[in-house]
Amino acid sequence: MSKTWRPATQLVHDGSLRSQYGETSEAIYLTQGFVYESAEAAEARFKGETEGYIYARYGSPTNDMFEKRMCALEGAEEARATASGMAAVTAAILCQVKAGDHIVAARALFGSCRWVVETLAPKYGIECTLVDGRYLENWEKAIRPNTKVFFLESPTNPTLEVIDIAGVAKLANQIGAKVVVDNVFATPIFQKPLELGAHIVVYSATKHIDGQGRSLGGVILSDREWVNENLQDYYRHTGPAMSPFTAWTLLKGLETLPLRVKQQTENASKIADYLADQPKVAKVIYPGRKDHPQADIVAKQMKGGSTLVAIELKGGKEAAFALQNALKIVKISNNLGDAKSLITHPATTTHKNLSDEARAELGISGGTVRLSAGIEDTDDLIEDFAQALAKVKA
Ligand SMILES: Cc1ncc(COP(=O)(O)O)c(C=O)c1O
Repeated sequence: MSKTWRPATQLVHDGSLRSQYGETSEAIYLTQGFVYESAEAAEARFKGETEGYIYARYGSPTNDMFEKRMCALEGAEEARATASGMAAVTAAILCQVKAGDHIVAARALFGSCRWVVETLAPKYGIECTLVDGRYLENWEKAIRPNTKVFFLESPTNPTLEVIDIAGVAKLANQIGAKVVVDNVFATPIFQKPLELGAHIVVYSATKHIDGQGRSLGGVILSDREWVNENLQDYYRHTGPAMSPFTAWTLLKGLETLPLRVKQQTENASKIADYLADQPKVAKVIYPGRKDHPQADIVAKQMKGGSTLVAIELKGGKEAAFALQNALKIVKISNNLGDAKSLITHPATTTHKNLSDEARAELGISGGTVRLSAGIEDTDDLIEDFAQALAKVKA
C-alpha cells in the first residue's frame, strides 16, 4: 500500500492479503470462525495481546481486504463492512446516540434513510429535525443543546440537490456534533466527505462499488478513535456484518470502479444535455451542468458530475410511464449505479411512502424520472431516448 498511489492503482492493489499460494485474485475466506494453536493462544487473542481474527461477525480476511481498500480510497483510518447500505446507515447513526440526543438531517433522503431518522430513532427517545439542507442557516437554526449528529446525502436521491458539506461540518464542529454523509450518489471517485470535514462516510456498496447488480453491501468509514469508541462494540454485538463472499465480489467491483464511473458519467452528462433541449422535457437536473441550481457548490466539492440525472417531463405521470415503457436499452428498476442503464419513477416506487406534501417539497412530481446511466455506448442510449420520447404524447 502506498500513500502516493492514485485511486485507479489503489483500487486494484490496496489491501490485498496474499496467501502462501501467491494467488493473483484475492482469495475468498468463507469461514465463520478461526482455530487456535493452543488454549494459551486463544486466551492471548481474546485478551488482544496477539493479532488475528476471532469470529467472522467482526472480522475476517476477505472483509479486511475490502475494508482496507475502501480506507485507502476514502482517506479513512478504519472501515467496517456491512450486509447492506441500510445496515451501514443505521449502524453509523444509532451507534453514537442515546435517548435524549437530537439528530438534524436533511429532508431530502433516500426513503429508508429518512425512515431511520424520522420514524425509528424517535421510538428510542432520539429526537430528529428534518431541514431543507440546501441552506446552511436551516442547519444552524435546528441546532439544540442535545444535537449530536448531522446526517445528509449529497447529491440527494432523486432530485440531485447538493449540500455544502464543509459548511455543515463547520457548524457541527462548533457544537461537537458529528457529520455522517451518505456518499452513494457522489461515489468515492467524485467526492471525499472526510476531506471536506465530515466525520463519518457511509456507502451502499450495492450501488457503484459492486456496480454489476450482484451483491448487497455497505461500508462505514471514519477515524480510528470514533470507530473504537462508537462503532466497534455496536458492530460486534448487533451483527450487521458482510458475508466474505460479498466482500470478494466488491473487491472485484472496486477494481473497475473508476472506469465504470467515468463512462457512466460521460453517458449521464451527454444524455442530460440531449434531454435538456427536447420540447417534451420541462427540466433536467444534473450536477455537471451550469444550470444546476447549486453549480457553485458542485464546483467546490465534487470532482465530477454524476452518473444520475433527474428528468422532469411536461406530461406528468402519463408521460413518465410512457417514456419508461418505450425505452428498449434502459431498464425500469429502482436500483442505481449499475453497468446497465436504469430508470425509475420515484413518486410510485422509491419515494411512494412520503406524503404528497413531502414529495412536493423535494421537487418529486408525477413527471419526475431518475436515470442511472450505465456503461453502454453513448449514442445507443441517446437513440433509445429519442425513439422513446417520440412515443410520449406532447
Ligand atoms: C442514497 C442511498 N442510501 C442508502 C441506500 C440503501 O442501500 P442498500 O439498498 O444497499 O441497503 C440506497 C439505496 O438503496 C440509497 O440510494
